[in-house]
Amino acid sequence: MPKTIVRYSKSIVVIHWASAIAVLGAWLSAEGGRKIVQDPPLLHFTLGLAVLVLVLPRLILRLIGPWPEPVARTGWLALGAKMGHGALYLLLIGLPLTGWYVASQMGVQVSFAGLPLPALTAAVQGRPGLIGELHENAGNLILILAGAHALMAIWHQFVLHDGTLRRMSWR
Ligand code: HEM
Ligand code: HEM
Repeated sequence: MPKTIVRYSKSIVVIHWASAIAVLGAWLSAEGGRKIVQDPPLLHFTLGLAVLVLVLPRLILRLIGPWPEPVARTGWLALGAKMGHGALYLLLIGLPLTGWYVASQMGVQVSFAGLPLPALTAAVQGRPGLIGELHENAGNLILILAGAHALMAIWHQFVLHDGTLRRMSWR
């Protein structure tokens, strides 16, 4: 069993905030439609894939490293935090993978910081279908969920005074 600590480790804090910036950047640099084929949004690909790269050490550290006890251990707050964090993790993994898949369907070369990556599936004629819709909706959903998550963290910190924000701060 990993050791229990009172706050997140420095590595997790760095990964958390770097992921949050990458998600916001990926959302801001997102583009849709056929113009992507002529002029692929390379910044969107790189920031989006950075989210996937960052989730791996995060999950490993979660499994093997010391991890803080949840602020609320029982009741609705504990359940809400667990479900909210779980949904964020699903999106952190699902969004980059669906994006990569859609780009491949559109026949667009995906690259990560200039490094070309293989296609996940064969290119199709016309608009990409369901996965494209799913990617776009999930891309908007993660921002809404992260906004609600940030408001909860601020509420914990400044209304409940339980030091939640400090657990994810550098010092
Ligand atoms: C956290 C990561 C990501 C977020 C938040 C995100 C968000 C979005 C959003 C909101 C759109 C819709 C834009 C619009 O229609 O105006 C979009 C489209 C798209 N994204 Fe992402 N994305 C992410 C990661 C990726 C990755 C890693 C790739 C490829 C490697 C990618 C490839 C695409 C493509 C090809 C489209 C156009 C799809 C279409 O027109 O049907 N995305 N993304
Ligand atoms: C896209 C943006 C964000 C994502 C994807 C995200 C995701 C997560 C996840 C998955 C956790 C659980 C801990 C872990 O496994 O690392 C977490 C914890 C936390 N996040 Fe975020 N977060 C985002 C933005 C923010 C923002 C903007 C704030 C503050 C204003 C914030 C404050 C916190 C705090 C304080 C914790 C610790 C909660 C606790 O101890 O239970 N996060 N975040």
